[in-house]
Amino acid sequence: MCSQLWRMVADVVIAVLLFHGFCSAQRDPRYTFMHQATTAPPVSYYDYIIIGGGTAGCPLAATLSQNSSVLLLERGGSPYGNRNISDLAAFGAAISDLSSTSPSQRFISKDGVINARARVLGGASCLNAGFYTRAGPEYVRLAGWDAKLVNESYQWVEKVVAFQPPMKQWQSAVRDGLVEVGIRPYNGFTYEHLYGTKIGGTIFDENGQRHTAADLLRYARPSGLTVLLHAPVHRILFTKRGGAKPKAHGVIFADANGVAHRAYLKRGSKNEIIVSSGALGSPQLLMLSGIGPKTQLDAHNISVVLDQPNVGLGMSDNPMNAVFIPSPQPVEISLIQIVGITHNGTYIEAASGENFAGGARTQDYGMFSPKIGQLSTVPPKQRTQEAIDKALEDMKALPPNAFAGGFILEKITGPFSEGHLEITSRNPNDNPSVTFNYFKDPRDLQRCVDGMKIIENVIESKSFSPFRFDALSVVTLLNMTASAPVNLLPKHSNASRSLEQFCKDTVMTIWHYHGGCQVARVVDHDYKVMGVDSLRVIDGSTFRNSPGTNPQATVMMLGRYMGVKIMHERHVTNRPE
Ligand SMILES: Cc1cc2nc3c(=O)[nH]c(=O)nc-3n(C[C@H](O)[C@H](O)[C@H](O)COP(=O)(O)OP(=O)(O)OC[C@H]3O[C@@H](n4cnc5c(N)ncnc54)[C@H](O)[C@@H]3O)c2cc1C
Ligand SMILES: *[C@@H]1O[C@H](CO)[C@@H](O)[C@H](O)[C@H]1NC(C)=O
Ligand SMILES: *[C@@H]1O[C@H](CO)[C@@H](O)[C@H](O)[C@H]1NC(C)=O
Ligand SMILES: *[C@@H]1O[C@H](CO)[C@@H](O)[C@H](O)[C@H]1NC(C)=O
Ligand SMILES: *[C@@H]1O[C@H](CO)[C@@H](O)[C@H](O)[C@H]1NC(C)=O
Ligand SMILES: *[C@@H]1O[C@H](CO)[C@@H](O)[C@H](O)[C@H]1NC(C)=O
Ligand SMILES: *[C@@H]1O[C@H](CO)[C@@H](O)[C@H](O)[C@H]1NC(C)=O
Ligand SMILES: *[C@@H]1O[C@H](CO)[C@@H](O)[C@H](O)[C@H]1NC(C)=O
Repeated sequence: MCSQLWRMVADVVIAVLLFHGFCSAQRDPRYTFMHQATTAPPVSYYDYIIIGGGTAGCPLAATLSQNSSVLLLERGGSPYGNRNISDLAAFGAAISDLSSTSPSQRFISKDGVINARARVLGGASCLNAGFYTRAGPEYVRLAGWDAKLVNESYQWVEKVVAFQPPMKQWQSAVRDGLVEVGIRPYNGFTYEHLYGTKIGGTIFDENGQRHTAADLLRYARPSGLTVLLHAPVHRILFTKRGGAKPKAHGVIFADANGVAHRAYLKRGSKNEIIVSSGALGSPQLLMLSGIGPKTQLDAHNISVVLDQPNVGLGMSDNPMNAVFIPSPQPVEISLIQIVGITHNGTYIEAASGENFAGGARTQDYGMFSPKIGQLSTVPPKQRTQEAIDKALEDMKALPPNAFAGGFILEKITGPFSEGHLEITSRNPNDNPSVTFNYFKDPRDLQRCVDGMKIIENVIESKSFSPFRFDALSVVTLLNMTASAPVNLLPKHSNASRSLEQFCKDTVMTIWHYHGGCQVARVVDHDYKVMGVDSLRVIDGSTFRNSPGTNPQATVMMLGRYMGVKIMHERHVTNRPE
């Protein structure tokens, strides 16, 4: 029993979500408007310059290109033809790839949790677990958005990237377990945010192929759009006229050869620069351009355009905590498909899988692979490279059947806890320093504890019973997740007895971090940067709370929504009198 348990302890660190690779890489749409930045002229002029071709930037660019000339600058390359991105089976491969050409850039927050940010056209929609679900009406109301346009914008996105997932045995058991323990009603398959248990959408199609925000560029008017790849923006340029507000009027970006290019706004009062560089990239770029806390800018010799202490504040990452449950019978490979939307400030989701594809050992990937940083058994600060390497090494010695099982996880809403971001250099390619302060607010810890209780109930439910070993009590399961798998790292032995300790010791990211350029702190309700002209920020950095159970649907929606609003404003005011 001891060695068997030992093996299962090791299971905790993996649930490889690979399945048999029958799919081919996502077809290259051969966008005529997409080029390498090396081909760009030294100077060029546009109506709109969008910085960051991510989850918000792509739908925004596609929309604005309808009636204007748009330049979209993306620091990464094309997602097309890369199976690490396109295949559901490869989930985790991109975020495990630490090379400088990887579509993912790893960062480790000061809290000690390993995390990832996108560096590719399509942004984090190229890396994520694919779950697609809208924000609720209350979120839309609090954001001050127009509900009808929100609905239309979601539908515009869904036509291209959203699908209904297949429901197999393991996900079905978790779903039935949630309903059994009272997460009711059962709402079936829906994109809507409704209390109870539901099947959500996914950006993976029936062949396990990912559809990203880059696919939304098919809506573009090709002659209205230029997309430049490998084009990191170093700085936004401002003009200052007497006592007037500084006005954004251009950008400097580098190409892959390190050659600098400039792009400027054409003459026209409606023309704008829009930053869509994500929750790390947007506050970072504002600071590099002289908008931020003066003391920080001074420390890096950046000349101050606007002393704005709120840039980089309100950084939050919703903590994720999970329990691994070894299964006596085979389970399907699944990413997130069902969600329990509770009244307790927590969302329950699940992922399952085995680590074999075509007979080959491929346990390097998976939502909880130590390689991508989700070493849930090791307290964040102890997740050293040596610990990760040791865990991977030990996993290789395990027999195949040691890996059947799945994770039930929870993400808390909000969160209340907030942190901050600081730049570390003047190089936009360097990660800024980020602190999220997980569980600093006791209400977040209470939500986590309540969520863990619900997960315990699901594990103990009749519906879920075929997928657990009776001999492994819930405390044992928690202990397995809370114990260091195969190393001697210090741990809190009370983590399986105290859910508070369990939440703290096993905190991970679900990668829904947001903030840094929040509405009412850095941008106004039209996403215009306060204190300067012709500059907006539109992406996840503007959120106070993470929308819906998972944010990507709302990030894409926001890109479309603001594109329509900006286009409309331009059209209305340009109409001849
Ligand atoms: C591993 C992972 C799993 C996730 N799972 C899910 C899920 O299942 N469901 C869900 O809804 N959400 C999920 N998310 C979260 C969701 O994908 C993100 O919240 C969302 O994509 C963020 O969108 P964004 O537009 O704010 O930023 P991004 O999509 O990151 O876009 C920012 C873009 O700006 C570019 N950029 C940055 N700086 C510069 C610069 N200086 N110059 C030029 N370009 C620049 C970046 O390369 C990037 O392409 C997940 C995220 C990750 C990473
Ligand atoms: C895919 O990911 C693997 C593992 O992280 C990496 O070695 C490989 O280079 C990646 N391939 C591409 C095309 O990015
Ligand atoms: C969105 O619009 C569709 C189609 O017009 C409608 O059926 C649906 O009820 C609307 N949803 C919301 C949340 O308004
Ligand atoms: C800022 O400039 C001063 C004076 O030129 C120099 O001593 C200092 O090293 C610079 N600091 C940085 C971070 O570049
Ligand atoms: C969750 O909320 C419901 C409804 O408010 C309550 O009855 C239940 O006790 C809560 N569950 C936990 C685990 O706190
Ligand atoms: C948890 O597991 C560890 C071994 O990893 C063991 O020493 C400890 O006694 C266990 N605690 C409980 C409460 O089961
Ligand atoms: C768990 O034990 C540690 C010491 O090992 C202690 O600091 C901590 O407060 C305990 N946690 C709880 C919630 O009791
Ligand atoms: C865009 O331009 C077309 C004509 O080119 C016009 O019919 C349409 O109303 C415009 N749309 C907006 C929203 O400005």
